[in-house]
Amino acid sequence: MSRRPPRILLGVSGGIAAYKAAELVRALVREEAEVKVVLTARGAEFVTPLTLATLSGHPVATSEFHDPPSPAIDHIDLARWADVLLVAPATANVLARFARGLADDLLSTVHLAFRGPVVLAPAMNPGMWEREQTRANVADLEARGVVIVPPEEGFVACGDEGAGRLADLQRIAAEALIAARRSRSMEGRKIVVSAGPTREAIDPVRYLSNRSSGKMGYAIAAALEARGAEVVLVSGPVRLSPPWGVERVMVESALEMREAVLEAAGEAAAVVMAAAVADHRPSAAPEKKISLPKDRGYALQLEPNPDILAELVQARAAGRLPAKLLLVGFAAETGQATAKGVAKRRRKGCDLLLANDVARAGSGFDVETNEVTLIGPDGQPEPWPQMSKRQVAERLADTMEKWWRR
Ligand code: C5P
Repeated sequence: MSRRPPRILLGVSGGIAAYKAAELVRALVREEAEVKVVLTARGAEFVTPLTLATLSGHPVATSEFHDPPSPAIDHIDLARWADVLLVAPATANVLARFARGLADDLLSTVHLAFRGPVVLAPAMNPGMWEREQTRANVADLEARGVVIVPPEEGFVACGDEGAGRLADLQRIAAEALIAARRSRSMEGRKIVVSAGPTREAIDPVRYLSNRSSGKMGYAIAAALEARGAEVVLVSGPVRLSPPWGVERVMVESALEMREAVLEAAGEAAAVVMAAAVADHRPSAAPEKKISLPKDRGYALQLEPNPDILAELVQARAAGRLPAKLLLVGFAAETGQATAKGVAKRRRKGCDLLLANDVARAGSGFDVETNEVTLIGPDGQPEPWPQMSKRQVAERLADTMEKWWRR
């Protein structure tokens, strides 16, 4: 990783706490961050562009439009420049607009264009913070991996008491710097992620498959890419579009997935097998549609597919893949997921395994959340709470980084 300073794009929105943004810019600059500021129209009612420009050493961006008109596309340039987007203070309005993906001013447009980590430090009247709609917006944002630095308890400007005061500036600065570092923490590493189901042809018309949606694997690919990794996503047939910046290889059968994964694994630092690979395939898949008998049953003969993960482990042991290659597996079970996961990790020989009970509500196939248990080489299960798949992906990314730091 190069040693250039972390680049923090600070959004300042229109709450009374906007006056503290000046001090926050100083705190970040003191930590040797490079800071550029986007000030919303209402933010500019509380703090002047001149103050923030002087402290940050950069012009302050206030609008998508220029006077005189210029062809500059600020929201894209700023989104490309930044390592992290920090908004402090973030008003209830910012939370709502970010949660819904509005793009009706420069800050919200930058937010939508930006692919890196987002840190929000809300500040508002305690009643607004507690409000059901705000709670829902915060939950939505967190589910997408946004870091919320929650407001503190105390008296707020209007005289009310409760949670609503902008968090401590040092704490906000620290969270932004951690996120900025994380945004490049996997630079230089190639990581292969598999996702989705496989389809095993019975004939040209029919196939065997499973209920995997690919959401977990796609979330992992997105999280790793956001940390600067070069990600190759080997995907079975799913309805998802590829995450930004990720190279996607579409496959259908387990045999095709095996070929694509083994090919990509050559220079990889890690392979994450999140795909629900079919364990078996029809022994013969004729080129013409089978005419099934209508008046009696039909026995389908199956044969085992190669276990891609186990093969990767063997190739690594035989020196055909780098000894340091980190191999991560998943185990989808219905009941006793942890015990089965422990046995599966040992049997397959992968380094880390995430076991999940796909029969549980809010866990497994085609839902937005997941509840998994991490099993490492010591065999000790570490249950993680139910989280969005993006949050599971972030925690897995943290775990992988910890593995590399050992
Ligand atoms: O044995 P089981 O299918 O439960 O193994 C789950 C783990 O092994 C997953 O990580 C999955 O991607 C991987 N796997 C594989 N090749 C197979 C079957 C599963 O790599 N044929």
